[in-house]
Amino acid sequence: PRPILLTRHGESQDNVRGRIGGDTALSEAGELYSEKLANFVRKRLKSERAASIWTSTLQRTILTAHPIAGFPKIQWRALDEINAGVCDGMTYEEIKKNMPEEYESRKKDKLRYRYPRGESYLDVIQRLEPVIIELERQRAPVVVISHQAVLRALYAYFADRPLHEIPHIEVPLHTIIEIQMGVTGVQEKRYKLMD
Ligand code: G3H
Repeated sequence: PRPILLTRHGESQDNVRGRIGGDTALSEAGELYSEKLANFVRKRLKSERAASIWTSTLQRTILTAHPIAGFPKIQWRALDEINAGVCDGMTYEEIKKNMPEEYESRKKDKLRYRYPRGESYLDVIQRLEPVIIELERQRAPVVVISHQAVLRALYAYFADRPLHEIPHIEVPLHTIIEIQMGVTGVQEKRYKLMD
C-alpha cells in the first residue's frame, strides 16, 4: 500500500517570534529540516516514480519542499494555514491582551470559533474536502507539506479521530507522520528528524 507522508513546514521566522499566520521564510533550523526531509524522501520513495509533493501556497511550505528533487510539486490553496483574519501576525499574548473576548471565545470552542474576517477549524475542515478526495484517489505516495491546523484536520480524517479533538491534536514540527492505508486499517509511523 502506498504511504501518505504528512509534515509541517520547517520552523519559520514567525514560529520563532511566536506570531501566527503570516508568510515568512524559514529559520535556520527550518532550513536544516528541509534538507533532512529531502534526504528522508529520497530514501523512502526511492523507487516510487509516480510520487508527488503537495504544498500550500505559502512560502514556508514551498521552501521546505525546495530541496526535494525528482518529484512533481503541486501547490494547493486549500492546504494554506487557518486564516487568522484580524489576528494574523499577532502573538497569542497580544490577542489575549488586546482582544480578550476573542481570546476567551476561542478558548471555549476552538473548533467552531471563527477569527473575525478569518476562518474556524470547521471552515478548514470543509475546504480540505477536495484535497482528501484527491488524496484518496492517488495510487502513488504523496508527501503533504502543510501547516499545523490543516494537518490536524487531515490527520484526524485518516486516523479516524472525532471532530472535537481536531483543534487539540499534537502535530509537532520537524516530524513526519506516515500513514499507510491497508486492508487491516490505517497504520501510522512517526519519524522525528530533529528537535
Ligand atoms: O497559526 C496557526 C496555528 O498553527 C494553529 O494553532 O489553532 O492551536 O492556535 P492553533
